[in-house]
Amino acid sequence: MAQVLGISGSPVTNSNTDRAVKRVLEHTGLETEFFKLSQLKLAPCYACLSCVDTNQCVVKDDGQMLAQKFREAKAFVLGGWTPYSSLDARTKTFMERMYCLRHQNGLNRGKFGVSVITTACTPRVPGLPPAAETATSQIGCWMMEEGITNLGSLVILGNVPCIRCGHGDECEMSGIKMLWGPEATVASVGVRSLEDDPDLLGIAEKLGQEIRQAVLRADD
Ligand SMILES: Cc1cc2nc3c(=O)[nH]c(=O)nc-3n(C[C@H](O)[C@H](O)[C@H](O)COP(=O)(O)O)c2cc1C
Repeated sequence: MAQVLGISGSPVTNSNTDRAVKRVLEHTGLETEFFKLSQLKLAPCYACLSCVDTNQCVVKDDGQMLAQKFREAKAFVLGGWTPYSSLDARTKTFMERMYCLRHQNGLNRGKFGVSVITTACTPRVPGLPPAAETATSQIGCWMMEEGITNLGSLVILGNVPCIRCGHGDECEMSGIKMLWGPEATVASVGVRSLEDDPDLLGIAEKLGQEIRQAVLRADD
């Protein structure tokens, strides 16, 4: 039984989001398990309320397994990204599906959580909403509403897909131009990796240690 779950909503193989979640997990020194939501079947909550008396979701997909794992875990690291300047659908769906644990017994209460958000939007791009702040706040509000202690968040500047699509320099809809200005190119922006930023690695390490301390303190 894993004490700490890592959940990534990023569909990109071995993405910055995945690696950041895993890095926080490593630094907990506790028993952990990682799930990539794009590899699972997970429908949004139907609000059918069949879970009200049982705390068991009746939707027959991987949400049932995830809810059982989440129920048993003491802490978690939840990683999302920011399509159209808000939290991605898979991560949001995960949060909705943990609703089954809420009724009558408040089974999400007392857990410790950390959020990871990977965004392509640099802070304060004119005309664009603050994607990372929005997504961080979405996970933070969910934690608050479920009685989960929020131990902190990590925000990573990731890669707009136009960096790797093959048309980022000439496409009229290029996110590279939108985010970095008309002169920006794939080469000038470059590919961003979590591992290139010692500050981010330090925050990931610290958050992992904070999870460890919180879990061990709660066990005393
Ligand atoms: C459909 C789609 C829409 C996107 N919209 C935004 C956006 O509005 N703001 C933003 O910061 N990033 C946006 N992105 C980029 C993602 O945030 C980026 O891919 C994410 O940071 C993951 O980076 P990584 O692959 O380096 O982990 C979008 C990506 C996709 C696929």
